[in-house]
Amino acid sequence: MSVSTATFLPFHRALIGEEEMEGVLEVLRSGWLTTGPRVKEFEAQFAAFVGAPHAIAVSSCTAALHLALAAIGLEEGDEVILPTMTFAASGEVVLYFNAKPVLVDSLSGSFHVDPDAIERAITPRTRAIIPVHYAGYPCAMDEILQIAKQHGLKVIEDAAHALPSSYKGRPVGSIGDISCFSFYATKTLTTGEGGMITTGDAEFADRMRRLSLHGISKDAWKRYRAEGTWRYDVLEAGYKYNFTDLQAALGIAQLGKCEAMQRSRAAIAERYDAALGGLDAFEIPAYPEHIGHAHHLYVLLVNADALRIDRDRVIEELKTRGIGTSVHFIPLHLHSLYRDQLCYAAGQFPNAEERFERAISLPIYPGMSDADADRVIEALVEVGQEHGR
Ligand SMILES: Cc1ncc(COP(=O)(O)O)c(C=O)c1O
Repeated sequence: MSVSTATFLPFHRALIGEEEMEGVLEVLRSGWLTTGPRVKEFEAQFAAFVGAPHAIAVSSCTAALHLALAAIGLEEGDEVILPTMTFAASGEVVLYFNAKPVLVDSLSGSFHVDPDAIERAITPRTRAIIPVHYAGYPCAMDEILQIAKQHGLKVIEDAAHALPSSYKGRPVGSIGDISCFSFYATKTLTTGEGGMITTGDAEFADRMRRLSLHGISKDAWKRYRAEGTWRYDVLEAGYKYNFTDLQAALGIAQLGKCEAMQRSRAAIAERYDAALGGLDAFEIPAYPEHIGHAHHLYVLLVNADALRIDRDRVIEELKTRGIGTSVHFIPLHLHSLYRDQLCYAAGQFPNAEERFERAISLPIYPGMSDADADRVIEALVEVGQEHGR
């Protein structure tokens, strides 16, 4: 019997409750919609949540990564090492500086960057490493921090997926030199669009805060308020990357339930693991020890040996059964930009390619019911039976 196609189960749906709505209405009623007291409150709460001395809210994780590279003084011709298994944002920010994104492979059998590959890619021009905490759990940070220390490099963590997440008991956001989070629509905490930078370095924090609002002297956001002053000074060319009180109202409400939402995703992951672990057609994700997993993504792998159809067809089969999925990620080196302008080629990073060709991200979000998760499971079981070898 075919699984119901009556309703489509989307890949993601944000969990927005009364708290978010009330918070947003309060900001609307206040008459002040952009950067203001709610942003400051959210930054303070976020900093405390991840145990970071400084938190700066910005318009996206892409903006966060850009400002992080500006803070460390990245210059034209410099090199930054990052995994090919990531989203466009992690690499494009390096290109903003006319610097070179140096791509490296994943560990064999993993979506996470290979520390040895990082070490092999270091040259005298290397300035920083951007580890990507793929799916919501951290990379091998002990090894990466050790390599960075030995070679005098900065570690800027792409933590777009990693809230809340931890490494050997330390929350992501308090590990590397700078961490960059995303509050994009599908992320574990969403404000529609948005991001957060955390750091333990006061100078980096001051510079990133300044650059996030036109390079204007301290507290520029207060210039229209009673406690502020109309006079300001532009210290350097900055950007319009500020976060708004409307977004912060969402963020504060979402942060309040961040851990509960994580537990809901963990329960869905467990349900998937238990039901899909025994199927020949698929391989369930495996995690290292000593990590706290945000469970932002649940990435199932297609077993080519056991199926007569490939990953793309499995996605189509799920779609016809009313299940939305996604793929994270098409490795950067397979995109035209990297191939045509940066001389990367298919076949260059076999570990990342192997994962990419087999990966399907399943729906995993707190608003899903057990019945929703079971629908996904039933659809996969059915696809496995119909198309198995
Ligand atoms: C790994 C990774 N880094 C960075 C980003 C960029 O985040 P944002 O959309 O907030 O700029 C994303 C977004 O999907 C991502 O998945």
